[in-house]
Amino acid sequence: METVRVDASKSYDILIGSGILGEVGQYARNICGGATAAVITDDIVERLYYLNVESSLINAGYRVIKFVMPNGESSKNAANYLSILDFLAESGFTRKDVVVALGGGVVGDIAGFAAATYMRGTRFIQIPTTLLAAVDSSVGGKTAIDLESGKNLAGAFFQPDFVLCDHKTLYTLDEDVFRAGCAEIIKYGIIRDKGLFELLKLPMDDKIEEIITRCVAIKRDIVNEDECDGGIRQILNFGHTAGHAIELLSRYKTPHGYAVAEGMALIARASARMGFCTADCRDEIIGMLKRYALPTETGFSSEEIYSAALSDKKSSGDKITLIIPREIGKCELRETKLGELKEIIALGLERGE
Ligand code: GLY
Repeated sequence: METVRVDASKSYDILIGSGILGEVGQYARNICGGATAAVITDDIVERLYYLNVESSLINAGYRVIKFVMPNGESSKNAANYLSILDFLAESGFTRKDVVVALGGGVVGDIAGFAAATYMRGTRFIQIPTTLLAAVDSSVGGKTAIDLESGKNLAGAFFQPDFVLCDHKTLYTLDEDVFRAGCAEIIKYGIIRDKGLFELLKLPMDDKIEEIITRCVAIKRDIVNEDECDGGIRQILNFGHTAGHAIELLSRYKTPHGYAVAEGMALIARASARMGFCTADCRDEIIGMLKRYALPTETGFSSEEIYSAALSDKKSSGDKITLIIPREIGKCELRETKLGELKEIIALGLERGE
């Protein structure tokens, strides 16, 4: 098992191992205490992993309650968020008790926001069961729900007490779900770790623990430096300006990882055309996305993507911060006027490399 220690406003461990799901109760008892554990999950994950988590928590002396929502991004809404708060209140849950997010990014984000706000903050554990949640959303304390006008528009920074990632769980879901997580892993290689990018050219097989640990350690370093996203943390948004726009335009039918893959390909193309990176760098990025069978084109027009991007919380006044690839392993933040953003999106959509 690997342990990555985060030292942000709160210090906590990310535990990464195979078959460690049944140990959650003991870790919860030692780290969080409390009498009740509220497991927030979705209907697919519940069938697969709830009983294991429940018995581990019961064995550690917890009263266990559960809230189950339908799987998918559309569950990350205000109505479900309020239902979770009501459910906690009606169950006699106190701020000394522990919210357990069991699932992917949707479950982690909404459960985390509920934990951050219920009685002004409870104990909180993340158990990511998708690759995307394991390498990104369960780490670093971003919690949120979506509003009609955009993704993650209501939320809080709220660090968990620990993250437990049993990577055996990551293979049992749909292959598409796993592939979507690969987009975020590729992102880490592009923004910070050329060695990781090269490693991804080989079969993943027995390297999953090493790969997750490497991604999480990169994110940890970034979060330690800029927990509240005022500066360098924005580098994690490589491909996300167009990606979030594509997700919104597709009404969240395009999974986050796929939309980010399309966004990364778009910005790589535009960056090569504008001379920010070489054509080789662009080809490496697009080639890697294709290697993992991720989409590199979108059917939406530049006008549509531009309009949707404006609702994204990354814009401020007449500027937006874009993440530009310079070479594999090195990206930079670039303040971009909205007029230029429009041009960049159009360049990124032009056919032909
Ligand atoms: N998913 C980007 C971040 O955590 O900042």
